[in-house]
Amino acid sequence: MLQDIASSRKVRRAFGFAVVGALLLFFFSGSLLSDPLIPQWYAAKGGQKNPLNYVDPLIGSVNGGHVFSGATLPFGMAKAVADVTGENQGGFGSDGSDVMGFSGLHDLGVGYMPSLGNFPVFPITSCPNNDPKSCKFDRMQRSVSYRNDSVKARPGYFGIELDNGVFAEMTVTNHTALYRFVFEQTPVDQSFGTAIYAGLEDLHSATINGFISVDERSGRILGNGTFLPSFGQGQYHAHFCADVGGADVIDAGIAPRPFNGDRAAGAWVQLAPGKEVLVRVGLSFISSQQACTNAENEIADFDFVDTATAAHKAWEDKFSVLEIDTDGASEEMLTIFWTGIYRSFISPQDYTGENPLWNSDEPYFDSWYCIWDTFRTTHPLLVLLDQEAQTRMVRSLIDIYRHEGRLPDCRMSFCKGFTQGGSNADVVLADSMLKGISDNVDWNAGLKAVLADAMEETRAWRVEGRGGINDWKEYGYLPLDQSRGYHRSISRAVEYAYDDFCIAQMAKMLNDSVADVMLNRSHNWENLFNQDTRSSLPDVPAEDPGQVHVAGEDTGFTGFLQPRNKDGTFAYQDPALCSPLLNPNGCFLDYKTAGETYEGSIWLYTFLSSPSDMGTVISKLGGDDTFARRLDYFHESGLLYFGDEQSFLTTYLYHYAGRPGLSGQRVRTYVPSIFNTSLNGLPGNDDSGAMGAFTALTMLGLFPNAGQDVYFIAPPFFKALSLKNKSTGMTATIKTINFDGSHGQNLFIQSATLNGKPWNKSWLRHSFFLEGGTLELVLGPLESTWGQRLEDRPPSNGRDGSWEFMSA
Ligand SMILES: *[C@@H]1O[C@H](CO)[C@@H](O)[C@H](O)[C@H]1NC(C)=O
Ligand SMILES: *[C@@H]1O[C@H](CO)[C@@H](O)[C@H](O)[C@H]1NC(C)=O
Ligand SMILES: *[C@@H]1O[C@H](CO)[C@@H](O)[C@H](O)[C@H]1NC(C)=O
Ligand SMILES: *[C@@H]1O[C@H](CO)[C@@H](O)[C@H](O)[C@H]1NC(C)=O
Ligand SMILES: *[C@@H]1O[C@H](CO)[C@@H](O)[C@H](O)[C@H]1NC(C)=O
Ligand SMILES: *[C@@H]1O[C@H](CO)[C@@H](O)[C@H](O)[C@H]1NC(C)=O
Ligand SMILES: *[C@@H]1O[C@H](CO)[C@@H](O)[C@H](O)[C@H]1NC(C)=O
Ligand SMILES: *[C@@H]1O[C@H](CO)[C@@H](O)[C@H](O)[C@H]1NC(C)=O
Repeated sequence: MLQDIASSRKVRRAFGFAVVGALLLFFFSGSLLSDPLIPQWYAAKGGQKNPLNYVDPLIGSVNGGHVFSGATLPFGMAKAVADVTGENQGGFGSDGSDVMGFSGLHDLGVGYMPSLGNFPVFPITSCPNNDPKSCKFDRMQRSVSYRNDSVKARPGYFGIELDNGVFAEMTVTNHTALYRFVFEQTPVDQSFGTAIYAGLEDLHSATINGFISVDERSGRILGNGTFLPSFGQGQYHAHFCADVGGADVIDAGIAPRPFNGDRAAGAWVQLAPGKEVLVRVGLSFISSQQACTNAENEIADFDFVDTATAAHKAWEDKFSVLEIDTDGASEEMLTIFWTGIYRSFISPQDYTGENPLWNSDEPYFDSWYCIWDTFRTTHPLLVLLDQEAQTRMVRSLIDIYRHEGRLPDCRMSFCKGFTQGGSNADVVLADSMLKGISDNVDWNAGLKAVLADAMEETRAWRVEGRGGINDWKEYGYLPLDQSRGYHRSISRAVEYAYDDFCIAQMAKMLNDSVADVMLNRSHNWENLFNQDTRSSLPDVPAEDPGQVHVAGEDTGFTGFLQPRNKDGTFAYQDPALCSPLLNPNGCFLDYKTAGETYEGSIWLYTFLSSPSDMGTVISKLGGDDTFARRLDYFHESGLLYFGDEQSFLTTYLYHYAGRPGLSGQRVRTYVPSIFNTSLNGLPGNDDSGAMGAFTALTMLGLFPNAGQDVYFIAPPFFKALSLKNKSTGMTATIKTINFDGSHGQNLFIQSATLNGKPWNKSWLRHSFFLEGGTLELVLGPLESTWGQRLEDRPPSNGRDGSWEFMSA
């Protein structure tokens, strides 16, 4: 509704004077067109470059990475960036499309519709007849191109120079975005000055309902709107409170919608001519009043440099737990590594105090987008680097269960997102529990939460819990011919089985006898294994040359997962379907394309049959040698698309066949060839940092099998590195002997010692990080026998019911 401006005018008078006064001071002291962070940025630290120097938030900003390249604090709610008209899932995309606004809420790496993007502000430098009422405020009309060598993205800061001569910079606190628009090149029209527009928009859904008001005297704009989530059901409300500074307010007004004049599109504030304008946008999901309070508390004085500097320090602090010996490491490797670390600290977002859905003393995180992506790498990395944040996330997950009856699988903007496979919050909880996360965590409630997933049928399985849980209990698989409409019966079964394994470990730690039931169910994947299935590959599409397989010929590998009917007979899905070689887009969520596997082939899911019982998987697939050859074939034939998270674990499965050397070698065929420093340097959506965390963990040389107390040891990409535990002062150090550069020849571990004693196992437990110590790896040019013996491989939870996985 178009709100009467007059009613709010009087109320804000006092504020208006106060703010303008404070800002004039700033106006005279502010630097123009210079990167405010340059002094800190290039400051050497302890003889080495500051790790923040190696962060390039633009990596993955084009060709589907969909990263968020803008300014944010670690896990902060405010995420400010320029929104473009083109590839804008994360707001900004380096595709050269025009800038249409600057907004303060975003998500990182989303694979579907653009997420959030509320509420854009935009500087207007001219209007027809110098009349702000006739300005072109509409997003397509106001959009403007930018100088593409002008983009500066740093942790906590984003700057861009528009082709109309406006230099736009932004920084943030937890709930507030601060923009500085500098009018350097265009002499501002003396009769018009400038205007700041604020719109009731997001990036994709358009406002369903919105309210806006502006105080003519102070220029304060209050607004709220109702929007759609990017990949889920329902709606959410968001609120903002924008104040301008640095120039006198001349006039203000409401901009009606172009074709719907009785409703507001946004509001404008006309400002006296000047060289720069600051716009502070407080954000909230509770009320615009709270948005104002957030802004006033967090950025009282509109000081851009101070705010950006504080953001920079917050990032420095997060990074300070890690130390890398850069001797022999290329700039490229350091950039891939630190940027990967950086993007692991962006989502989920800390919305504590901003949850309109329920009252609770527990933390509230949002943007679990999606746990299906992040359980594998993002959360295990946070367990290593930021125990405190991960603990608060775990508490938030359990609290979401308390209030919504289920753990989230995908959740964004206070809405339930679509479930892709099983209930992988179970894996996140188990991973954290096994690794000692406990501070104020109610693990009994945690067990109840995962058991709701595992035990209770739900009709709403598209967005919560697991569909077909009664069939899972009755048949031990999801029968293909049950008329429940659950496609993806293979990939879901594989995930259900592993989720059950994770729950079993949690139950075991709590001495709950449900552990045995869950452990038993974790073997259900075997019910879908068809020993007789073979695979021959189709013709490679013409545009996909150089594949190693011969079209039409049997691959020679037998035994694949297959869909199964209620009566126990097997149905058939070509094992290559939905691989890059055969209908790669055939297995998404919609029913038209849906296959029995999700976003991947049976080839892929057969390797992932049981991350907890690889011993059985390997023996069903023909033993160590055949398994290793089959993995090679999978990685080299064109069957594997590496832009999706399920692919990650397949690089490390050689460890289970006693060939850890091949894992280290394999992963180097992906980093840096497809995880690199180019603008398109990600093979797929970053998915809340899952890709970043994959590269970081890989380069550390200790890769987790998420949900188990297991880290695979592989040669790190650096000569030495260490991870400090801030609370205990303990340090876990990994050192190499014969390191010859990230790409070097000496890529095979010959032998290892842990705290000076021989370490023959190809894996480690989390106690290494808790207790500290030194793992020393002797490297050489050829694969060695290290890690090959059965007893030195990572544990496999076979049918003997032993609990080898437990650290306790
Ligand atoms: C700048 O634009 C040119 C031409 O469109 C393009 O080739 C180049 O990659 C762009 N550079 C950046 C940094 O976006
Ligand atoms: C931002 O929020 C985090 C909690 O997520 C908190 O630790 C941090 O101190 C806050 N930063 C500031 C500057 O208040
Ligand atoms: C949005 O603001 C209007 C005007 O202040 C108010 O009446 C309305 O309740 C607000 N909407 C929400 C969802 O808070
Ligand atoms: C640091 O030590 C504390 C106390 O032992 C422990 O709870 C925490 O998990 C450790 N952090 C990491 C990252 O290992
Ligand atoms: C589980 O049982 C073991 C052995 O009886 C005991 O030491 C442990 O404290 C129990 N744990 C819990 C959480 O009850
Ligand atoms: C394990 O599963 C088998 C059938 O798959 C069943 O016979 C057995 O009773 C189960 N055991 C437990 C402890 O649930
Ligand atoms: C970087 O990665 C992208 C995406 O994975 C890939 O297409 C591109 O070829 C790589 N670039 C270089 C220079 O390796
Ligand atoms: C570790 O391997 C070395 C070399 O093969 C061997 O001598 C030693 O006995 C092994 N240690 C253990 C504990 O198995």
